This record gives sequence, structure tokens and C-alpha cells, in this order.
Amino acid sequence: MGLIALGVTGGIGAYKAVEIVRRLQQGGHDVVTIMTPNARRFVGRLTFEAITRRPVIVDQFAPGANAAVEHVSLATDIQALLVAPATANTIGKLAHGIADDFLTSLYLVTRAPVVIAPAMNTNMYEHPAVAGNLQALRARGAHVVAPGEGYLACGWTGPGRLASVEDVAAAVEGRLRPAAGLDGRRVLVSAGPTCEDLDPVRFVGNRSSGRMGFALAAEAAGRGARVVLVAGPCGLEPPSGTEVVSVRSAADMHAAVMRGAVEADAVIMAAAVADYTPGDGPRPQKIVKESETITLTLARTTDILAALGRWRGGRRLPVLIGFAAETRDVVARARAKLEAKRVDLIVANDVSRSDAGFGAETNAATLVAPGGTTDVPLQSKRGVARVIIDRLQGMLVERDTADAVRTADHEPS
Ligand code: CTP
Repeated sequence: MGLIALGVTGGIGAYKAVEIVRRLQQGGHDVVTIMTPNARRFVGRLTFEAITRRPVIVDQFAPGANAAVEHVSLATDIQALLVAPATANTIGKLAHGIADDFLTSLYLVTRAPVVIAPAMNTNMYEHPAVAGNLQALRARGAHVVAPGEGYLACGWTGPGRLASVEDVAAAVEGRLRPAAGLDGRRVLVSAGPTCEDLDPVRFVGNRSSGRMGFALAAEAAGRGARVVLVAGPCGLEPPSGTEVVSVRSAADMHAAVMRGAVEADAVIMAAAVADYTPGDGPRPQKIVKESETITLTLARTTDILAALGRWRGGRRLPVLIGFAAETRDVVARARAKLEAKRVDLIVANDVSRSDAGFGAETNAATLVAPGGTTDVPLQSKRGVARVIIDRLQGMLVERDTADAVRTADHEPS
């Protein structure tokens, strides 16, 4: 079972794609249809919309489609990309990396298995240009479902007819990407520093690079989660497949995290949120040097992680994970934060080390949970992210199992 993207291109076999959708649905799969502009000359989008119960994607530049960079988010969600029928033109574009519509862009972004079912005139199919393009696609791992032979719509007889519905569906089912550990889960990660503006040119900030949070977001997205990355100013390239919400101050981050937490299965607060901000907000004019000393009055910000802990209360979700940047008594102080903020795990960093924590490429940490502590040895931040996300996956499975047991206990006997 999984989400399959079906690309329909402009050939007479397009009407048979409707049957393919039905067959895939009977196998328990969910199908999202993408039509090239020429496909719409052969079959109406309403037919696909009615049977898939999803909007058909026809335009890469439709209003709204780019807000979520749809071809990127769909690319990570799907378990397979099927192109049926595939015309010589689309096969040529796929083989040469031309991305001038939604389907051909999706092909370049997705890492899901690709199945191509060609359908065209016999001479076109046998032309060395088409044969070479199909060979290039096969060499890159795509599976080509050989067309059937027989009487073609163009009046010729020979190979070129779209393979049978059963053969196409079987080819897809045999190649579905296995469900990744976080498929269907929503994970919110905060990352980077916050900047508390003093005046139009100055701010109070910190040395967080954002790398740990970005590594966590990339790792969760790589395992199939839908990831929202709430990032303070850090100038890092967003990991593919994540939705980035850029914020500046602790107050902005608080608002964005609380908004996103409502839908999340897990929230990981890797951001170095300012604990204090200018008491009266930023001055509207630049502060000028008039006296020898200056006193700034700073007020406490909201502790976002603690607010999440209070808001969740006794519920099981979202799983809450925090960080603790410490310079002494690392585990004891992290444990105190775990209890005070009512969260499930604290990743404690000894920031007095030069090879770990703020600004470093590597990290070492101690995972502090109610049940005990685990040391994570010095390694790349992506490596540490892998260990943390493994732990998160385990916590989500534990909660599912506990819920299932509870439901069974309440079933009438
Ligand atoms: N945090 C937060 N909101 C804040 C400050 C911190 O959500 N206003 C989160 C951080 O993202 C981190 C955790 O709380 O996950 C711990 O942050 P840290 O700065 O180590 O500890 P504090 O609780 O701020 O305590 P102190 O600075 O006194 O050590």
C-alpha cells in the first residue's frame, strides 16, 4: 500500500490509464494523477479526479502550487512514479533531463522507483532514438514495461500498444519503495539562533550555526516524514523535502512553533532561543553613543519548550525533544530541564568542548530520558541526528503499541 504518482502523457492509450488507476486502487494503493498538456487532448481530467478523489496536477505554475513546491513535496511522499502511457516525446525528455512540465520535473526530484509503460506507433517505438532513450532510462534504474503487439490505433500492426493493465500494475507493485520509518508522520524541528533586535542595526544573538537542527530535519525527511523546519537566521541551504518557516526573534519562533505543533507527531527544539529580549522591544531609532556606559534592560522570553510541555499536558503526542547546552554538570542539569519542561528526551551537549555543539561540524551528546541516559560518541551532526531520529521512531512506535493495547482492552468481548 502506498501513494503512487501516475503520469499520463498524450497518447491514444491515455484512456487506459483510467483502468490502471482502478487496478492500483483495488490493490489498496492511493493514486495521484499528473497529466501533461497533451494528455488532456485525449482524456478529461475530471475522469481522473472522480476516481482518484484527488485534484489532478496539470500545471507546474498553478497559483498556490509553488508555495509548497509541490513537485518536491510529492516527490518525497510517493512510493513509485508510473508513466503510462509514455509517449516518445516524454521518454525523450526523461532520458535527457528536460524538466519543462510537472511530470518531467517530478522525475528529476523523486528517488522513488520509476516505471515507464511506452505506447506509440511501431516505427516510433523501434526508432533508434526512442530505443536509445529507453535504454538510457533503464540504465538509470527505471523499469520499462514492454508494449504489447497487435493492431494499433494508427492502423499499423506491431509492437507499440500500451501493455496490459495487469502487466503495468504488477510492474509497479513489484517495485514499490518500502515504507520508510517515518512515513505519514509530521515532525517539526526548530533550528538556528534567534536575533533580538535592539535598534534598526543591532541585535542580541548567539553562536548557533543551525547545523544540528538542519541535520535532524534532513534525516526525518529522508525517512518519509513531512518536516516543517522553523529556522532562525542562519543562511543554510534548506534540506530537500522540508517546508521552511523563517523567523527572526524568539517571539516569532514561539508563534511559528505553537502553530505547527498542533499537527505534529513530534517537535524537536534544536534552536538556541534567546532567553532574554529588549524589555520594551527594539528602539525605533539607532542608539547613539552619548555616555561612557550603557545599560540594556532585557526581559525573559517565553520558554517555548516548556510551553509545549504545558500545552501537551498528559497527552501522548506530540513527542517532545529538547536540547540543553551546558558547560558543567551536564547530565544533572539536563535531567532537571527534562522534568521541569515535561518533555520526553533532552539531548545534552557539553558546549565547553571545541569539537561539539555550537559552530562545530561534529557533535557528541548524552540523551537524557526518564528511563536513563545514553552517550552518543563524537561524530558528524548528521550521525548524531540519525541516533536521535532512531530514538524518536522508537518512541512513536511505543506510543502506537500502547494505543493499540488500550483500544483492544476496551473492545467488547
Ligand atoms: N528553549 C526554548 N525557549 C527558550 C529557551 C530555550 O524552547 N526561550 C529550548 C531550547 O530550544 C532547548 C531547550 O529549551 O531545546 C534548552 O535550552 P537551554 O538554553 O540549554 O536551557 P534553558 O532552559 O534556556 O536554561 P539555561 O539557559 O538557564 O541553562
